[in-house]
Amino acid sequence: MSTFFDYVDSNKDRFKDELFELLKIPSISADSKYKKDVKEAATFLENQLKSIGMDEVKLCETDGNPVIFGKHLKAGADKPTVLIYGHYDVQPPDPLDLWETAPFEPTERDGKVYARGASDDKGQAYIHVKAIETWLKSGQDVPVNIKIILEGEEEVGSPNLVPFLKEYKDELACDMVLVSDTAMFAKDTPSITYGLRGLAYMELEVFGPNRDLHSGVYGGAVQNPLNALCEMVAKMKDENSVIQIPGFYDDAIDLTEEEREAGRKLPFNEKEWLGAIGVDEGFGEKGYSTLERKASRPTLDMNGMWGGYQGEGAKTVLPAKAGAKISMRLVPNQDPHKIAKLFTEYCESIKPAGVTIKVTDHHGGDAAMTPLDFYGLKAAAQAYNDVYGKEPLFAREGGSIPIVADFERVLGVNTILMGFGLNSDAIHSPNEHFHLKDFYRGIKTSVRFLEVLSDYKP
Ligand code: BES
Ligand code: MN
Ligand code: MN
Repeated sequence: MSTFFDYVDSNKDRFKDELFELLKIPSISADSKYKKDVKEAATFLENQLKSIGMDEVKLCETDGNPVIFGKHLKAGADKPTVLIYGHYDVQPPDPLDLWETAPFEPTERDGKVYARGASDDKGQAYIHVKAIETWLKSGQDVPVNIKIILEGEEEVGSPNLVPFLKEYKDELACDMVLVSDTAMFAKDTPSITYGLRGLAYMELEVFGPNRDLHSGVYGGAVQNPLNALCEMVAKMKDENSVIQIPGFYDDAIDLTEEEREAGRKLPFNEKEWLGAIGVDEGFGEKGYSTLERKASRPTLDMNGMWGGYQGEGAKTVLPAKAGAKISMRLVPNQDPHKIAKLFTEYCESIKPAGVTIKVTDHHGGDAAMTPLDFYGLKAAAQAYNDVYGKEPLFAREGGSIPIVADFERVLGVNTILMGFGLNSDAIHSPNEHFHLKDFYRGIKTSVRFLEVLSDYKP
């Protein structure tokens, strides 16, 4: 093992330089202006996988952004096959003025690289590219069979990845999926995420009069769409933060008593967690702890709301329309389509008189869970032990990677979520960063994981 670790140590600077090259490409999937850049990031990774000596690497076109698909199957049929997944697209970087250094000019400060995508997910996905390189350049072959797919649409809900999984189902056959696109529980605390929340993302628009009106001339005598929207939003949760949509919780699987007990033993420092985001009091569903609320319970949140005058000073106006973007995070067994339908029906039922509404279902995805007795997790835990010198923790996380549920549904396999990021990495926010120490430890953990796994029979 030490020779592999030596390879990582002696190639650190080059690994970092290459990551910087990837981070310079503004591969923003949400904005069509960046289509060319998204393609450039895909090509960069295609060339990388080819140059490290993977057997077969192709750029697969989809109806959206390409998927880079690599294979290296020299270990033979009696060895496990791992499918590595990551995404090379990133979130838009705005608000730009809050970045200390430009989002697509990666900069190193205090052992961290600052750039959009540093942690989510270019830095974490690149860990595995360099781990595969480490094996291939070691003179030995990779001890398990490797497949890798890197997509460019995760941040917009992976609309073309399920069709891709179905089209390439046979070629993608594997024993497990390995993903690094989550966070560690805390600094220097290796963690395996065994649960992710699902998502239903809705838009609610409320329409009233045929134009904006003088709030003195008309106010009080016609319905104000913005008032109507606020009334509706206020009816979505009760004073205990219980979601009021009929049927919302019907299929939701709650935490087991065993899980709650295990959760209480996790080294979660609530004060610190709240302090880091400038909040001094937790908030949420009655009867659940902060840790449970943030990862294992469903939510309903406004992500944006608009309507009426928002400029300087005061303008007396009744807006003709108003709207809100609303996300609902889901737990295992809640079907995002069903939830979207229940949400729509509920909106119709609470719509105040005098306005019309339109509800749009933007995208969604299922929650996912990896069974704790899955053998892949044992191999992962061993690898963490050998690199971080600690047993990893097992925890659920509140974010969503909708394709993980499809790996199980379409390919019939479990996913190992080996995250090397931190909650403090500011993903999706200004000044996103990634600790280089974890970039290198991540590479070593991945290298070691592939070795440990080779002792298991598929
Ligand atoms: N990598 C994140 C998901 C994540 C982050 C999971 C931290 C666990 C911990 C991913 O890129 C992401 O942002 N997913 C989106 C969902 C998507 C459908 C837009 C999310 O969770 O909002
Ligand atoms: Mn991600
Ligand atoms: Mn993301």
